Amino acid sequence: MNVQTVEPSATQNALPANIVSPPANIRRLVLTGFMGAGKTTVGRLLAARLGWDFLDLDAYIESRTGLAVPSIFASHGEAHFRQFESQALACALGRENIVLALGGGTPEILTNRLLLEQTPATATIFLDAPFPTLFDRCMMQALNPGATDRPNLADPATAEARFLAREPIYRRLAQHTIDTANLTTEETVATLLKRLHMPPARRR
Ligand code: S3P
Repeated sequence: MNVQTVEPSATQNALPANIVSPPANIRRLVLTGFMGAGKTTVGRLLAARLGWDFLDLDAYIESRTGLAVPSIFASHGEAHFRQFESQALACALGRENIVLALGGGTPEILTNRLLLEQTPATATIFLDAPFPTLFDRCMMQALNPGATDRPNLADPATAEARFLAREPIYRRLAQHTIDTANLTTEETVATLLKRLHMPPARRR
């Protein structure tokens, strides 16, 4: 690493060249969107670019409960899963310098939306794409060895109805919406970083 040749003014925060700093008033970035939106892959890359921690809410629930998400659905039901999810979200939002990938259904719960809206220095970004694109991405992911089952995707028609009901909720909750339909993970992260340095769009 070539540290000696860099002027102190250029070493603000002593960040390596490929690390970018977010606006000073943001200490948590939250990714929302339907299953297949890319919350986890984009979140991991974004966290690496910022030099922040990455937390996937489903993985966090699994580590807190010792149970896989599909098993929680199967043995306790979705309502119970949502309780675990709200508790995990409250804990996760206690952390700083973190990129947090929500589950697709997290914003359906009012308590979760309030937590997200009322936690200071927190920006929520909606990764948007049309339902067929999201569904296809999920089907592709399901082919990967070790892929996690998504109980709420079992019936395509019900999944689409959920998507239609959730889409306006994601949009209202987020300060920024990014259409990811034709973007790679890297392009989504680049768009997001650019967007964060601009004032958020007015909420509809
Ligand atoms: C769900 C989405 C999943 C997971 C659970 C329920 C949903 O997360 O939380 O299977 O209701 O949309 P991903 O969006 O990360 O797949």
